[in-house]
Amino acid sequence: MVEEISLSTKPERLRLIKQAGYNVFQLKIDDIYIDLLTDSGTSAMSDKQWAAMLTTKQAYAGSNSYYQLEKVVHELFGFKYFVPVHQGRAGEHLLFSSIVKPKQMVLNNSHFDTTQANVKFVGGIPRDFVIEDAYNPSKDVAFKGNMNVEKLESFVKKNRNKVTLIMMTITNNTVGGQPVSMENIRETSHIAKKYKIPFFIDACRFAENAYFIKIKEKGYKNKDITKIVKEMFSFADGCTFSGKKDALTNIGGLVATNSRMIFEKIRNMLVITEGYPTYGGLACRELASMAIGLQESTRESYLEYRHAQVKYLWKRLNQAGIPTVNPVGGHAVFIDGKKFFAHLPQAQFPSQTLVVELYIESGVRGVELGTSCFSELDKKTGKMILPKLDLLRLAIPRRVYTNNHLDYVADSLIKIYQRRKRIKGLKKVYAPPLLGHFLAKFERIS
Ligand SMILES: Cc1ncc(COP(=O)(O)O)c(C=O)c1O
Repeated sequence: MVEEISLSTKPERLRLIKQAGYNVFQLKIDDIYIDLLTDSGTSAMSDKQWAAMLTTKQAYAGSNSYYQLEKVVHELFGFKYFVPVHQGRAGEHLLFSSIVKPKQMVLNNSHFDTTQANVKFVGGIPRDFVIEDAYNPSKDVAFKGNMNVEKLESFVKKNRNKVTLIMMTITNNTVGGQPVSMENIRETSHIAKKYKIPFFIDACRFAENAYFIKIKEKGYKNKDITKIVKEMFSFADGCTFSGKKDALTNIGGLVATNSRMIFEKIRNMLVITEGYPTYGGLACRELASMAIGLQESTRESYLEYRHAQVKYLWKRLNQAGIPTVNPVGGHAVFIDGKKFFAHLPQAQFPSQTLVVELYIESGVRGVELGTSCFSELDKKTGKMILPKLDLLRLAIPRRVYTNNHLDYVADSLIKIYQRRKRIKGLKKVYAPPLLGHFLAKFERIS
């Protein structure tokens, strides 16, 4: 699919961003030149995916695309049971509302924002156990998304009765799309088994994670991606998955598990909230495109291209001295907002300020994953608890842009970097309580 894009003028963008409350989620796509807001649901689909969508029969029950997807999920992931859902967070809600009781805990390397919100929504308590190095953006560590297994085990030992679920997010989006090693998945699974706690993978970017294992972890260089994928999932009791990432589709997701008990609870809830199990809140054609996309995203030649493109942008920014998260992650390039705008206090949203500046400078849309997205209100003191990381994410949609587009993004950021000391921060004037950053409004500090 080829889409026309057009570049507005700077005065127009200044007006539009002010009107949007300095929140790029409120902008219209026609007012954006290059959209790096997310890699979710923004992939260009292949000829084979479109063809499968057109030739699939639409049926309330027993659609052929369900069985096509079932075969791929079984072969690739290896779980016994699965349900399709309309996107990742629907799967998260089904899983948590089935097994997490109020005040019980879910432990993760790093919860993504929707995962965290869905745990809280059912009254649960999310806790992160990523390795400490992940909070040092510039440090180059091969598997920076890993779980701190020592810390995890000592916490589980003390709080066994409160912990309902252990999760592992691959790749770890919140800390920069950083991969998790096979060894770390194995060790985390071992702890979960030892304490008889279900272990699920948040598998949105499982194929990108498998590629990192192949190129970075000892013993995997000559292994097929599909074998690495199977091995990763073999350590888990199930997974939640957003097909909008590594299934190269515009909508869709799934929950898969080996537990009959969890599956039955999820399936019952699915019928109430999403739809019949052979379509799960989707048009049947979306299941067909997910089935094909899962096969395409696990091809090594595709993953090679994908990794090289993300690395291209990272390298250009890195060479210009822009403080990137190192090493490069799987789906995006992240910039350390606190370092970029060293003169701004974190409470003035450095990365959100950079998101706004980038849009005004160039019409490019990135997204903040930091103070606006992850800060929490301390119920006792009424003060904001600021997250350790404040990042700007430039997510690269799959199979969409060329490196020339990315050169334009890099050149624009370099221009902002050169005049960074003259830029003022933002203050938040409105946000709803859960996932508030989507609808938040800001004002510029003069
Ligand atoms: C790690 C991770 N988990 C879960 C989700 C939620 O998926 P969805 O947007 O399909 O609801 C996302 C989406 O960006 C994600 O990155």
